[in-house]
Amino acid sequence: MKKLIAVMLALVLVLALGATALAADTLTVAFSQIGQESDWRTANTDDVKNAIEGAGWNLVYDDAQQKQENQVKALRNFITQGVDYIVFTAIVTTGWDEVLAEVKEAGIPLVLIDRFPQTGFADDSWYTTYFGGDFPEEGARAARWIVNYYNSLGRGSEEVNIVRLEGTTGADAQVGRSKGFDEEIAKTPNFKVVASQTGNFTGAEGQAVMESLLKSVEKIDVLWAENDNMALGAIEAIKAAGLQPGKDIIIVGCDAIKLAFEAIVKGEMNCTVECTPLMGSRVVEVITGLEAGETFDKVVHPVEYVYDSMGGIPYTADGAALTLKAEDHVSERLY
Ligand code: AHR
Repeated sequence: MKKLIAVMLALVLVLALGATALAADTLTVAFSQIGQESDWRTANTDDVKNAIEGAGWNLVYDDAQQKQENQVKALRNFITQGVDYIVFTAIVTTGWDEVLAEVKEAGIPLVLIDRFPQTGFADDSWYTTYFGGDFPEEGARAARWIVNYYNSLGRGSEEVNIVRLEGTTGADAQVGRSKGFDEEIAKTPNFKVVASQTGNFTGAEGQAVMESLLKSVEKIDVLWAENDNMALGAIEAIKAAGLQPGKDIIIVGCDAIKLAFEAIVKGEMNCTVECTPLMGSRVVEVITGLEAGETFDKVVHPVEYVYDSMGGIPYTADGAALTLKAEDHVSERLY
């Protein structure tokens, strides 16, 4: 009997050790997200979290609530917890050198998504790879669409006043889109940015800023909003002012979310430049590859399109890519 009990105890011990070894084998992936300012961000958060958990890994998630200091704290907590990988999107471009040096020192591979942090490191060994939108190109696409749209109406030589709703000041998406737009629009001097203010990528601020721009700017022909939620907020302000969005004021947004497609189909918005939030499968591909000893290109941008109501407007520098019709894609858009 004693012998039997000893054998059973040994068996339990072996099973328990096996389970511990299995648990230790499961990767722990930490994800530092910036907050939940837009529909794009919600889709991005869900996609990345689901992909990490779907891969069978432990997820440690932190929402920084739009504060850089919270992201710094989160990164330090991830180091203390000894996570295996850190997935990181930087709320603003600057101010990361100290904490990212600590991540590197801890030997935790850093996977960058969405917004790229600018650092002063001597080489690029501090991160594994970056996956996210080409923000200057997105801004340039918006500018090209506006000019080509006016040209398509035979109105390309008119004086066109553009107002801009900027994203969060200092965010990669704001800095890049503003730069790309300004450089491109400067090629057509009769198209001018006459006012530019931040709406922090939110619908509520887009609406409030547009309300005040409608009072302070005498003639607004075009609104370029650096994301769709701000464009949608601005549409409410334009309607409240007794104007017809999409007709009295041409409206161009960015992200290509479902609500923007619906606004284009209704004729209240004219164009949206795509920036995809779907980054989860790339995160899984990268971490799986790194585990197998692979390396990745340092910067990878997803393939993205531009959508409007009629299709056929050129939006790339070579004039080759033409807009797709939002109404053909609205039903398949899940975010
Ligand atoms: O960094 C991507 C941008 O951030 C998206 O355009 C915007 O909607 C989001 O909040």
